Amino acid sequence: MGFIEEVKRRRTFAIISHPDAGKTTITEKILYEGGVIREAGEVKGKKGRKAATSDWMAMEKERGVSITSSVMSFDHEGLRVNLLDTPGHKDFGEDTYRTLIAADSAAMLIDAAKGVEAQTRKLYEVCKLKKMPIFTFANKMDREGKDPLDLIDDVEKTLEMKCYPVTWPIGIGDRFKGLYHRQKREVYIFTKGEEEPEVYKVDGYDDPKIKELTGDDELYEMFFETLELLEGASDDFSEEAFLKGEISPMTFGSAKFNWGVDLFLELFCKYAPEPRSRMTDKGELDPVEKNFSGFVFKIQANMDKNHRDRVAFVRVCSGRFERGMKVQHQRLGRELRLSYANQFLAGERETLEEAFSGDIVGVNDTGNFQIGDSITGKGKMTFEPIPRFAPELFGRVTIKDPLKRKKMNEAVQHLVEEGLIQFFYDPNIGRQDSILGVVGELQFEVLLHRMSEEYNVEAKLERLPYALARWTFDKESGEAIKDCPKGADRIFLDNYECPVVLLDNEWDLGWLERDNPDTKFSMSALG
Ligand code: G4P
Repeated sequence: MGFIEEVKRRRTFAIISHPDAGKTTITEKILYEGGVIREAGEVKGKKGRKAATSDWMAMEKERGVSITSSVMSFDHEGLRVNLLDTPGHKDFGEDTYRTLIAADSAAMLIDAAKGVEAQTRKLYEVCKLKKMPIFTFANKMDREGKDPLDLIDDVEKTLEMKCYPVTWPIGIGDRFKGLYHRQKREVYIFTKGEEEPEVYKVDGYDDPKIKELTGDDELYEMFFETLELLEGASDDFSEEAFLKGEISPMTFGSAKFNWGVDLFLELFCKYAPEPRSRMTDKGELDPVEKNFSGFVFKIQANMDKNHRDRVAFVRVCSGRFERGMKVQHQRLGRELRLSYANQFLAGERETLEEAFSGDIVGVNDTGNFQIGDSITGKGKMTFEPIPRFAPELFGRVTIKDPLKRKKMNEAVQHLVEEGLIQFFYDPNIGRQDSILGVVGELQFEVLLHRMSEEYNVEAKLERLPYALARWTFDKESGEAIKDCPKGADRIFLDNYECPVVLLDNEWDLGWLERDNPDTKFSMSALG
């Protein structure tokens, strides 16, 4: 297969959902449909995981899960599908955000009984910002849930995005009979305990055969009436609007019973976009450009404890990646050899020989990479920086054993580079007196746990009263302002030397904004 064909057959996506909507379950079923695993249930992980904290730790200890959860690839219908996993817990929203940047489309999974939940909404905002095409899967149709029209209304109102139901459910909960495919004019009848539906061709949703197949007049009436309403009111599907993230093809099913997951995959293969072009400092980059390039969106340390290795996940944005190739590390301004690259096929770490635009490669890293780093085959070019969220919780780590100070600093630095925590320091004191910031509580717990497990440093966290971080910029020029704003007692620098103020509350921020009308106090380090 030629280079261009290889690029054009890549489909890279991530699933977004609220915890418990069924992401793990549907991931398993997708991998099963994709032929990666032979039996659903093989993906080791979070079965029955309820109390996120303790189980997350246990899961982290196993480490195997983190490997499988980074990226899973399989060939399906001539396409190379790359499914990027995103952490389920809200405290790792930043991780999810970065993963979404590496994807070309997203699948939004919603619990049909609950509709759009808080975390889905938050993640959706990211997709919207990036104008990312989104598929919707309404899950748990085997359980009592919302009326499908209400569900659509909920998605459309909450997310301000149109839905185009490609399938329409016949019944719900105990009376869930199956699905009608509006584009294919087919009916799928499901039976509990069986994954394969009976499939029937019909003339349309008013075909009397559907009534016969459902064997329940009242149910059929409901199906017919709701679909009739929908046909009258809904917009036609437009691929162009979908690619801009304005309309979402939607389908229904039950991940648990593996009903409708194959239809989702079919829909995905039909509409999911090829690798998209990416913005760089040299303008828009076409994925079929021959010169290799990519950016690091995730760093995972010590995946294999015996080797204490660190893997940088690179989204390939152009060209062809080859094992052992030399690349230009843009931030360090020097050449590096990417000697060990792995691809993750549901738990197996396979050595990857080549990859193309759209793929994700995990490269072994000895400390050269940070999140957001750009690499190229040759020449200078950097990708748009990956934004950092303003942390809301702050603290300082302290240790009992002063001899471990160097080790502690090393651990902190590694975990900052991985993106687990953010780092701030007072330039008048120096980097040794660091303040750490996180978005969610669980990140602090993971920090202490990992310092102990991986670096053998028993540390304590001293909480600080700050609640806001704002990066300071000149409103007119957009340049960072390094001087302490009027009314603030000091200015800090973050790990990348960007000036930032740390504040206790919104009230203080209000005062600073009034006293410094020319300064923009930004929630993002990018201005
Ligand atoms: P998550 O990754 O999004 O957090 O969700 P996960 O797949 O772990 O699913 C959360 C719970 O919802 C699980 O139940 C799972 O079995 C159930 N579930 C997922 N899809 C469906 C579905 O289509 N229908 C129904 N009825 N349930 C579904 P659990 O009780 O936590 O675990 P388990 O004992 O069932 O494994």
